[in-house]
Amino acid sequence: MSFPNDFIWGAATSAYQIEGEEGRGPSIWDEFCKVAGVASVGRACDHYNRFAEDIRLMRDIGLRAYRFSVSWPRVLPNGRGTVNRTGLDFYDRLVDELLAAGIVPWVTLFHWDYPLALHRCGGWYNRDSAAWFADYVALVVDMLSDRVSFWFTLNEPNVYVACGYRQGIHAPGERLSADHAFTICHNLLRGNGMAVQAIRDRAKMQPWIGYALAPNPVPLPATDTPEDREAARRMLFTHEEHDFMSCTWWTDPVAWGRYPEEGVRKGAARIPDINAHDMALIAQPIDFIGLNIYFGVPCCLADDGTVRTLPLSDAHRRTGFGWPVTPACVYWGVRFFVERYGLPVVISENGAAYPDTVSDDGTVHDSERIEYLKEHLQWLHRACEERLPVRGYFLWSLLDNFEWAAGYTQRFGIVYVDFHTRHRTPKDSAWWYREVITSSGTCL
Ligand code: FCB
Repeated sequence: MSFPNDFIWGAATSAYQIEGEEGRGPSIWDEFCKVAGVASVGRACDHYNRFAEDIRLMRDIGLRAYRFSVSWPRVLPNGRGTVNRTGLDFYDRLVDELLAAGIVPWVTLFHWDYPLALHRCGGWYNRDSAAWFADYVALVVDMLSDRVSFWFTLNEPNVYVACGYRQGIHAPGERLSADHAFTICHNLLRGNGMAVQAIRDRAKMQPWIGYALAPNPVPLPATDTPEDREAARRMLFTHEEHDFMSCTWWTDPVAWGRYPEEGVRKGAARIPDINAHDMALIAQPIDFIGLNIYFGVPCCLADDGTVRTLPLSDAHRRTGFGWPVTPACVYWGVRFFVERYGLPVVISENGAAYPDTVSDDGTVHDSERIEYLKEHLQWLHRACEERLPVRGYFLWSLLDNFEWAAGYTQRFGIVYVDFHTRHRTPKDSAWWYREVITSSGTCL
């Protein structure tokens, strides 16, 4: 088994989860942690001060690419207005050091850490929010696009809105009505369109632009028959009323310039005016879709023609986070998205948390993570074999880090971080991944 020669092997992180709070303005996550009683992020991995050490680790592991996010409140502490030069310089140096180490930077522009000051002005609920985002993006693009060509505008807007604005379990912790949440969704998509325009207008190198969605759980055909395949596909792209987790809400408008008919029909009375000008803005062409895929759920076609999910039992293999291990999810996720939208995809996140500890020999033996990654990559290879346009794989995550509402309880890294000393210890999976990269997957 071998992956294409130009396959992109990377790892991913995000600013809020690793950098630490030094030298940046407040974001909605700082506020949410206080109010919700979640452990505050504090210094996190202190990547802000230790990025050079982290890049050395990346080089040792043999990463070809690194996906990180820029913290909006680091470069603009109030979200707009005064620029924090030191903050911008941080990313400038980060990119230089990555390139010097032979690692290609993939930049995410918004990975959930929304500036608190803008939230207080209505945030994404305010129609101006799209322009605020585009102005911030322009600033970053002016600074980095002579060296960066790979851009993710948004990370998981579906999770951001479903968890942050509907269920209230993520920042900003709101439980808005569906029509209010729809306005937020619409402005995020407008912001995405304006950001894409800003990148194309200003980029100094030919850009490759996409965003990352999280279709978890990915519906999986219970058996590899045409019926169950169709059932899984239908489940993935079906639209429940006001369910902002659904990827169709986020991709149909970008790919085709219209919201999913089913969603509009189900919520028609409550959806505000959608004008043609907005939809044209939202439909700015993108170059790829990023898929953050962690797990799936089997589906089948019932006798009465309806689609049924077959929930996995408690006895099913699970990660330390309780997520079921279902390696076929990467294959079906890639295949269904490619078939529907016809765009290239990258796996922008995949990985697993386990309760790792440092052994007496000073290393971390994370055989379960290796097993998880190996099985997922084997399924991803099937997608490559079938010539589906999957261009790369970003392992989540390089470092153990701050796992949002779960605080520091979940270790997703291939590098262990001691959160008292900030000492880094590559886990067995890090060296295993190096082998996968250098052998182009042959060792799988
Ligand atoms: C994704 C997020 C990422 C990380 C993983 C485990 O939903 O994008 O930041 O927390 O889950």
